[in-house]
Amino acid sequence: MLTREDNEILTRTNPDTPLGEAMRRYWIPACLSSEIPEPDCPPVRVRLLGEDLIAFRDTSGRIGLLDEFCAHRRTSLWLGRNEECGLRCVYHGWKYDVDGNCVDMMNEPAESKLKDEVKLTAYPAIEMGQVVWAYMGPKDRMPEAPRFEWTQVPDTHRLVTKNRQECNWLQALEGGIDTAHAPILHRLITKDTDRVGIGADTELVNARPPTLEVDITDYGYRYVGLRDVPNDSTLVRTYHFIMPFHQIRPQQLRFRGGDWHNIIAGHMWVPTDDQNVMIYNWIYSFDEHPLVIGEEIERELGRGPGDLRPDYLSIRNKSNSWMIDRQVQKNETFTGIEGINTQDQAVQEAMGAVVDRSLEVLSTSDMAVVSARRLLLQAVRTVADGGDPPGVGTSYYGARAIDEIIPRDRKWRDVMLPKMYAEPRG
Ligand code: FES
Ligand SMILES: [Fe+2]
Repeated sequence: MLTREDNEILTRTNPDTPLGEAMRRYWIPACLSSEIPEPDCPPVRVRLLGEDLIAFRDTSGRIGLLDEFCAHRRTSLWLGRNEECGLRCVYHGWKYDVDGNCVDMMNEPAESKLKDEVKLTAYPAIEMGQVVWAYMGPKDRMPEAPRFEWTQVPDTHRLVTKNRQECNWLQALEGGIDTAHAPILHRLITKDTDRVGIGADTELVNARPPTLEVDITDYGYRYVGLRDVPNDSTLVRTYHFIMPFHQIRPQQLRFRGGDWHNIIAGHMWVPTDDQNVMIYNWIYSFDEHPLVIGEEIERELGRGPGDLRPDYLSIRNKSNSWMIDRQVQKNETFTGIEGINTQDQAVQEAMGAVVDRSLEVLSTSDMAVVSARRLLLQAVRTVADGGDPPGVGTSYYGARAIDEIIPRDRKWRDVMLPKMYAEPRG
């Protein structure tokens, strides 16, 4: 459990909140590159950490991330015309470049100097791994670019999607770093079903609950779930938590008609505001095989074509009780909810927008969750004291997550640790 005070700290990210300050010290996903696909395309709304912004790509391809509201009389620049290296407000024609400078005013005499005094808030933005990243913190503390390995592989080897959830960011993050729930929440309860889930006959389901080990690092932590499996072996699933909201996890995939491959997957849980989170989901292939069945994976997770609304909320959402089917719950899947990530979404949203963690009863399997809270609280204190939070360096660049079955008498660190860090690319 957390005290009410600490729960408040960890769930509030608006400007001038303690965690809001700390989070603004990292690069933060603002939108997908595909949302602003080409020069002079329509601008898009971006709500980040409680701030309303507009993202656009200008004539020369540069990305602007500006305050949504025009400096003049505050209408939305979402209505704006993206033209000739600037975004022009349609109300009276004030035009802004990607740095937020007002470069023209259609309602002012030509000799007016007013435009030289007008500047909109503009955040630096970079594009990497098909994602537009923003930096909203003090300029002199801007960290190195977030060169996760998944951002550095060719586009053919990566898939990035996003979906929205109607709950606080921390609830979603804590679901993602909680390995113990996977074979329970996502379980299939019969072999007699076409539904997607973790099979009743898999090692994951039949193993006893995992033992967790957490190694704190300078970027967050790595952790493993150790599960006894037959033949005197241990199933080792390794993960990384990278501050402030990244998870890297192992995944196995069967390419169409082919063999199983190890790929790596993960999420970024980006606070939209205190009641909503935008989840960026990525998978990549780190060997020579391009990723060919990304869409199928997304469908299984409940994020395929037709599963999401234009605003990135799942069609199965809180307002329709995630379309739970009690008959399916009785006979086929543990939850009766379609889509693995929709099941995660349901339990996280069902807590209410911001859960009161002072009421929790935690168990041993919550070790990774507790460790993340501790690191986040430490980061808040460090930033408040003028320091740099963990994870603004480059030590996570080559971090990989893998799973393997190893003989029970081998130590996982000896076998797995060397494979958990690759040479950084790019
Ligand atoms: S409100 Fe934008 S130019 Fe007047
Ligand atoms: Fe899950």
